[in-house]
Amino acid sequence: MKLAIFGPPGAGKGTQSKTVSMKMGIPQISTGDLLRAESKSGSELGKMARSYMDRGALVPDQVVLGMLKDRLQKGDCKNGFLLDGFPRSIPQAVALEVITDLDLVVNIAVDEERLLKRITGRRMCQCGAAYHVEEKRPRVEGKCDLCGSALYQRDDDKEATVKKRMDVYRSQTAPLLEYYRQRGLVRDVDGNRSIDEVREGVMGAIDGGAPLK
Ligand code: AP5
Repeated sequence: MKLAIFGPPGAGKGTQSKTVSMKMGIPQISTGDLLRAESKSGSELGKMARSYMDRGALVPDQVVLGMLKDRLQKGDCKNGFLLDGFPRSIPQAVALEVITDLDLVVNIAVDEERLLKRITGRRMCQCGAAYHVEEKRPRVEGKCDLCGSALYQRDDDKEATVKKRMDVYRSQTAPLLEYYRQRGLVRDVDGNRSIDEVREGVMGAIDGGAPLK
């Protein structure tokens, strides 16, 4: 299955994508993770991408599309994939259609005031695990349960940048929903619930077959 998980910053795309990807045996492709890895490598491309991410803006399409194309050509994508954070604008969706089609777009809808709280309280591990300051995890404060590394806050998770990311979502990304609805590809999931309940909703949307046109 070729799937995209859609939603505003902090909706739980990454959290849900990890589980769904494992359950379905298809790779999770997060453009945010690809860009952060490029930035960490210290390359010129990564530095350029970082300058956009740090101010909450979208990285230029040609950069993101180049990375995505390379990733989709890898062997593990031949039985499907799960896109997390891509596409993020109508031009990106149009460009994606030239490379491949999508079977389903799962939209995780969350109230705005909840999003800000989720993102500013998020703590990350270098292994990709995400935590939240209000959760009972991790077992040892500040250390990842999975690999023991120190947790940190993403640079773009500070409140001012999060607000900018929300603006970008509203103006550039949200219109995509209508684009995919017109193509009969969207299933909506209420993301204002616990992580487990949202996961059930996402799996239900996937198992539900093709969305009604
Ligand atoms: P990216 O990394 O994709 O960030 P994002 O879309 O803003 O999404 P987040 O990672 O912030 O949130 P999420 O929905 O994955 O939530 P999560 O599961 O972590 O992109 C970062 C930047 O890269 C962009 O701003 C842009 O600059 C650039 N970029 C990326 N893709 C691009 C593209 N296609 N084109 C151009 N530029 C691009 O959850 C958040 C927190 O909430 C966690 O702490 C989690 O534990 C908690 N949580 C999750 N679900 C629940 C729940 N149900 N209940 C309670 N807490 C929950």
